[in-house]
Amino acid sequence: MSRIHEALKRAEEQKPPAWKPSEPTPLGFGGNVNTAVAREALHSPTPTPKGIPTVGRGLRLEELRQRCIKPGWELNPDCDVFSTKQSSSLCAEQFRTLRSHLYRLREKNPIRTLLVTSALPGEGKTFVALNLALAIARQHERKALLIDADLRASSLHARLGAPAAPGLSDFLGAKVDEFSILQADPKFELFFVPAGRPVPNPSELLANGMLKAFIHGISPVFDWVIVDAPPVLAVADAGIIADFCDGVIVVVRAGETAHNLVKTTLQEFRGSNLLGVVLNGGSEAANYGGYACSAGFGLAKR
Ligand SMILES: Nc1ncnc2c1ncn2[C@@H]1O[C@H](COP(=O)(O)OP(=O)(O)OP(=O)(O)O)[C@@H](O)[C@H]1O
Ligand SMILES: [Mg+2]
Repeated sequence: MSRIHEALKRAEEQKPPAWKPSEPTPLGFGGNVNTAVAREALHSPTPTPKGIPTVGRGLRLEELRQRCIKPGWELNPDCDVFSTKQSSSLCAEQFRTLRSHLYRLREKNPIRTLLVTSALPGEGKTFVALNLALAIARQHERKALLIDADLRASSLHARLGAPAAPGLSDFLGAKVDEFSILQADPKFELFFVPAGRPVPNPSELLANGMLKAFIHGISPVFDWVIVDAPPVLAVADAGIIADFCDGVIVVVRAGETAHNLVKTTLQEFRGSNLLGVVLNGGSEAANYGGYACSAGFGLAKR
């Protein structure tokens, strides 16, 4: 038996049971054909590309750090609520509050991998995913992995000032291995996987089983894994990725996202792994770059 296989087997035996709320998981909400198709695709056999190693649970952070690429990011201070350039300490404080809500949720449920999504484009998913990851990585000895799984309109690399490729799409297309898509920066306890090169079939790639195996294998190395996803109501991708994550955070743009769209979006995840809602751009919060940011967080109510 290979060492990787043994490590995976050992990790599988030690793995705590995945947390799921007591409600049964509803399938195919509201006749959402895309979602139904995507969920079906999840049950198809996983292609295992030859020659690509799988990150195992025995893997240590130091090994990852050594083997991943270190391009040297230039984080755009306009996108970082913790940068000294930003005057809004309230916005940074709200991200710290969001972070502590998550730690509190984790006391009761073993959550580590989080999907960030929203109903529509432009509601602040990437903004929230990035700043939440930075909030975590700024803590002493806390490690975060940020994955850009928006293979259609990726933007995290641009905000981080990081190379866009090779990335997730290249790995899912079996063109490169995991270590080639992982980036790290000595300044942050933050690792990053960019979206990679544009592909014609994002949903199929996300559902081919490799992302599931990747997240499953790598997440024990980090305190939190945050996955930025496309909007729920536009494409099936977020629904696919949610099945590989412990929890889903839905971003709602205050005063913009229509109530019925928020409801439909929450319905997509309610009963499976919906953790809560982040209200982005709340009017009571301080102004930040022309917007206000309010990270209201809590378990969504029916
Ligand atoms: N609270 C905020 N304060 C300041 N700027 C914000 C805030 N929320 C979002 N933005 C800005 O609004 C724009 C859209 O946000 P973002 O790209 O994060 O949305 P998105 O939901 O990820 O969009 P897409 O669906 O296209 O990926 C970005 O320029 C982002 O920096
Ligand atoms: Mg985005």
